[in-house]
This record gives sequence, structure tokens and C-alpha cells, in this order.
Amino acid sequence: MQYKNIFTLALASVASAQSASLTDAIGSQGALSSLAALLGSNSEIINMLSNLQNITILAPSNDALDSVNSDNIGMLTNSAYLQALLSYHVLNGTYYNTTFSNESMFIPTALMNETYTNVTGGQVVEARLYDNNVTFFSALKENATIVTPNLNFTGGTIHIINSLLAIPQNLSETLSNANLTAAEGAISTADLTNSVSETHDVTIFAPNNDAFNAIGSVVGNLSSDDLSSIVGYHVVNGSVAYSTQLENSTLTTVNGQNITITVVNGTVYVNSAKVTVPDILLSNGVVHVIDQVLNPDNASATPNVTATSATAAFTDASTGTAGVPFTSGVTTPTTTYPAATSAGGSAESSSSSGLAMPMKTGAVGAAALFGGAAIFASL
Ligand SMILES: *[C@@H]1O[C@H](CO)[C@@H](O)[C@H](O)[C@H]1NC(C)=O
Ligand SMILES: *[C@@H]1O[C@H](CO)[C@@H](O)[C@H](O)[C@H]1NC(C)=O
Ligand SMILES: *[C@@H]1O[C@H](CO)[C@@H](O)[C@H](O)[C@H]1NC(C)=O
Ligand SMILES: *[C@@H]1O[C@H](CO)[C@@H](O)[C@H](O)[C@H]1NC(C)=O
Ligand SMILES: *[C@@H]1O[C@H](CO)[C@@H](O)[C@H](O)[C@H]1NC(C)=O
Ligand SMILES: *[C@@H]1O[C@H](CO)[C@@H](O)[C@H](O)[C@H]1NC(C)=O
Ligand SMILES: *[C@@H]1O[C@H](CO)[C@@H](O)[C@H](O)[C@H]1NC(C)=O
Ligand SMILES: *[C@@H]1O[C@H](CO)[C@@H](O)[C@H](O)[C@H]1NC(C)=O
Ligand SMILES: *[C@@H]1O[C@H](CO)[C@@H](O)[C@H](O)[C@H]1NC(C)=O
Ligand SMILES: *[C@@H]1O[C@H](CO)[C@@H](O)[C@H](O)[C@H]1NC(C)=O
Ligand SMILES: *[C@@H]1O[C@H](CO)[C@@H](O)[C@H](O)[C@H]1NC(C)=O
Ligand SMILES: *[C@@H]1O[C@H](CO)[C@@H](O)[C@H](O)[C@H]1NC(C)=O
Repeated sequence: MQYKNIFTLALASVASAQSASLTDAIGSQGALSSLAALLGSNSEIINMLSNLQNITILAPSNDALDSVNSDNIGMLTNSAYLQALLSYHVLNGTYYNTTFSNESMFIPTALMNETYTNVTGGQVVEARLYDNNVTFFSALKENATIVTPNLNFTGGTIHIINSLLAIPQNLSETLSNANLTAAEGAISTADLTNSVSETHDVTIFAPNNDAFNAIGSVVGNLSSDDLSSIVGYHVVNGSVAYSTQLENSTLTTVNGQNITITVVNGTVYVNSAKVTVPDILLSNGVVHVIDQVLNPDNASATPNVTATSATAAFTDASTGTAGVPFTSGVTTPTTTYPAATSAGGSAESSSSSGLAMPMKTGAVGAAALFGGAAIFASL
């Protein structure tokens, strides 16, 4: 993806004898008339898109846009937000529909504005084949599928998709909407929410609520230093490790100690904890949900790959009497997000087709996403 200079512009117009301009390509598709209308009233965005080369545009169909228009017309009329949102629909590179496989790809987009993302090189979209359809995952595992592929134009190709992508939200919004409320509360209690949120490029292993519940008896006895150390032991700064990049290795966490990543038959373990939902995209990185709270005093804990339920990495821990730790004062989501509810594992792929394991169940409702959008749009 690069800005055309005058010279390449001239070359492009020669080449366009065989290939349509962006506006012609979009204009020729009846299923993109809503997008065409939206772009028609935003010449700045058309100019931005027309100046990019070697891109793939994921173009929301009329159905996709109209379903948003009726409820959330406001967000699409904010030109700065719309530019960011559409930039997130532009992949860096020309990816015909045949590029995708059962292994996820995490493809950088043209969304680089720091108001919306602190992922170096551009916020990503997860792309993979799912039941033979090319499927894209954005914020909170919300998905969109190609309905019409490979509409070529001078700058690359366009796929019509059946749903809008959602820009990944910040840490608090993401944990809250994913019902990872104990993790959210623990980070907040440790007073680390701002420092983690403001860091560029993070990888966070977020224990689900059951994992925190399982060590309820221990939580009350933690000093604030202990808690900071434990929370920091779940955060890797300076690199965004999507599931496809996790392999047998160690990663150094914010508390200075290493965690051990083990991959067995496509299932990822962190020390002895299992990743139950990988790759929830964040404005500044990625969250992987795990089924145990990691214990920096038990860094040598190893996975039990045949276990059917999670144990705790804290010796003698048991469920406390005060409910799920750290959740008092944390707002619980109203939409159901199956990823984070019970023991986990339900979201796990039973196939060995890579590490992706996207959720099989529907993700959060649109309300959570557009709640996030409203925050962005008001910036
Ligand atoms: C697109 O990706 C390539 C690497 O594949 C990189 O060199 C280039 O800078 C990227 N373009 C933009 C606009 O980020
Ligand atoms: C980034 O987004 C903000 C808010 O939407 C906008 O005001 C600003 O102009 C954008 N910056 C760039 C470089 O596009
Ligand atoms: C197009 O972009 C992709 C991804 O950034 C890159 O690998 C490829 O080399 C680029 N191709 C051209 C012709 O620039
Ligand atoms: C890719 O698009 C072609 C039509 O251009 C279609 O025949 C094929 O089934 C598509 N493949 C996938 C995986 O969607
Ligand atoms: C990205 O980081 C900058 C500080 O470097 C901060 O001002 C901005 O709010 C962050 N953006 C997001 C989406 O968190
Ligand atoms: C996936 O493809 C099948 C046919 O191959 C189709 O019936 C189904 O509706 C598609 N799913 C989506 C979400 O488009
Ligand atoms: C777009 O170009 C690709 C690669 O050359 C080709 O496979 C595909 O058939 C083209 N799409 C259409 C609709 O002609
Ligand atoms: C990773 O480690 C596990 C456990 O030791 C082992 O079963 C697996 O084969 C290793 N994977 C690779 C690619 O070496
Ligand atoms: C962490 O792992 C790295 C190698 O990945 C190693 O160099 C370093 O010494 C380890 N640190 C600790 C505290 O064990
Ligand atoms: C990995 O999967 C293969 C085939 O499904 C199975 O035979 C093997 O026991 C599995 N290994 C582990 C460590 O679970
Ligand atoms: C959130 O998790 C709690 C367990 O901590 C569960 O009781 C609740 O039903 C979940 N909420 C949603 C909306 O899934
Ligand atoms: C995509 O989301 C819908 C709900 O919006 C859900 O029914 C479907 O299972 C999801 N598809 C995948 C592959 O996650």
C-alpha cells in the first residue's frame, strides 16, 4: 500500500484500460449503492482510498450499511470517524478470495490513526476460511463474510462483505464487553489500567471469571505488590502476539518474569493455563482468554494436556465466599458473550486446522460495538 505519485498515476491510467477505477468499480455494483452514496458525500475519503495501491477493500453491502444506518445513523455522519472506520476496511495488500485458508491471517489495515489504534503498522483484521466462506473477525470477534469476491480495480481488489467490521476497542471496553470482569477489576485494582491501555503493542492473557473465582480464597490475602506482580505477569509489552505467532517459547512479561508458551496439537498453553478464546483484538494489541490465573511464584507450572477441567496455579486455593473476586464495582455487560461465561473450552475448535479457534457462537450484540463507536465518534 503506498501513495501514488504522478508517475505511477500515469501508469495506473494506462493499466486501467483493463481495470476499473475505484469509483467505477464501486459504482458498477448495485449491492454497493449505499457505500457509493456514503463515499459520494465524503470526497476526502474517496481521495484517500483512490491514492492507495495494492489494497483490498472490504466493501460493506447495502444490507450491512443499511442495518447500521437505521439505528446508528449518527456515527456514519461523523466524517473523521467514518474515515477511520472505512480505513479499517482496507487491507494492506491484494488478497483475492483464494488467498485464505483454515489458518488465520492477521492482516494490517490502513487504520493507523492513534486516536483509534496503537498497533504498530496498522490495526489488523483476522481472516480465515470458515465453513468454506472467507470470514473476517474484528472487535470482540464480530464477523463478516464475503458475499461477492474479487471485484478488481486499478489499486487492487474489492470484496463485498455482509456486515460492517468494528474497530477494536480499548482494554476496559473490551474486557467489560467480553464479560472478563474479574480481569478488568484486577487490573483496575492494581492501578494498571492506564499504563496498560496507553502502551503501544500489548499481548494480554486474561483469565476468565471462573479462573479468578477458583482462587477466591487467596485473593483476600494479596498485598498490593503481590497483585501488581500477578497482573503484570499476564501482560507482554512491545509485541502483539496473535495465536498464529505463539509457539513453544518463553515471553518476558511486564513484571520481569517469563511465561512459558506450549502448543500441543493446536491448543496453546501459558504455563499450565489453557487458552480458551484466542485473538480478541484490542485497540493496542490482542487479548487471549485463559482458564487459570497465572502465578509468578509458580512459573514452572506445566500444562496437563489431558485434564478435562482447569486446576489452579496457586497451591491450596479454593473458591472464596465473597463472589467472583474484583468484580464488585465493575459493570457487568448486558449482552451475552459466550466466550467468557463458564469454564471455557466451548469456543475451542475441535479440528486441528490451526490455532485460530474462532468462537462458534455469536459474538456480542451490536449494542456493545456501537457503544464503542459512539465513544470514538465523539472524539
Ligand atoms: C504495507 O505492508 C508492507 C509490508 O508488507 C509495508 O512495507 C508497507 O509500509 C505497508 N504500507 C503501509 C501504508 O503501511
Ligand atoms: C485522527 O482521528 C482524529 C479523530 O477522528 C482526527 O481529528 C484526526 O484528523 C485524524 N488524524 C489523521 C492524521 O487523519
Ligand atoms: C502488496 O502488498 C503485500 C502485503 O503488504 C506485499 O507482500 C506485496 O509485495 C505487495 N505487492 C506489490 C506489487 O507491491
Ligand atoms: C472465490 O471466488 C470464486 C469466484 O471468483 C469462487 O468460485 C470461489 O468459490 C471462491 N472461493 C472461496 C473460498 O470463497
Ligand atoms: C495511543 O497512544 C497515545 C499516546 O501514545 C494516546 O494518546 C492514545 O489515546 C492512544 N490511542 C488509543 C486508541 O488508545
Ligand atoms: C457460508 O457458505 C454457505 C454455502 O457455502 C452458505 O449457505 C452460508 O450462508 C454462508 N455463510 C455466510 C455467513 O455467509
Ligand atoms: C480479479 O483478478 C484475479 C487475479 O488476476 C482473478 O483471479 C479474478 O478472476 C479477477 N476477478 C474478476 C471478477 O474478473
Ligand atoms: C511443543 O512442546 C510440546 C510439549 O513439550 C510438544 O509436545 C510439542 O511437540 C512441541 N512443539 C513443537 C513444534 O516442537
Ligand atoms: C526469559 O527468557 C529469555 C529468553 O527468551 C532469557 O534470555 C531470560 O534470561 C529469561 N528471563 C528470566 C527472568 O528467566
Ligand atoms: C494429538 O492429536 C493426535 C491425533 O489427533 C493424538 O493421537 C495425540 O495423542 C494428540 N497428542 C496429545 C499430546 O494430545
Ligand atoms: C458474566 O460472567 C458471570 C460469571 O462471572 C456470569 O454469571 C454472567 O452470566 C456472565 N454474563 C454474561 C452476560 O454472559
Ligand atoms: C458470525 O456471527 C454470527 C452472529 O452475528 C454467528 O451466528 C456466526 O456463528 C458467526 N460466525 C462465525 C464463523 O463465528
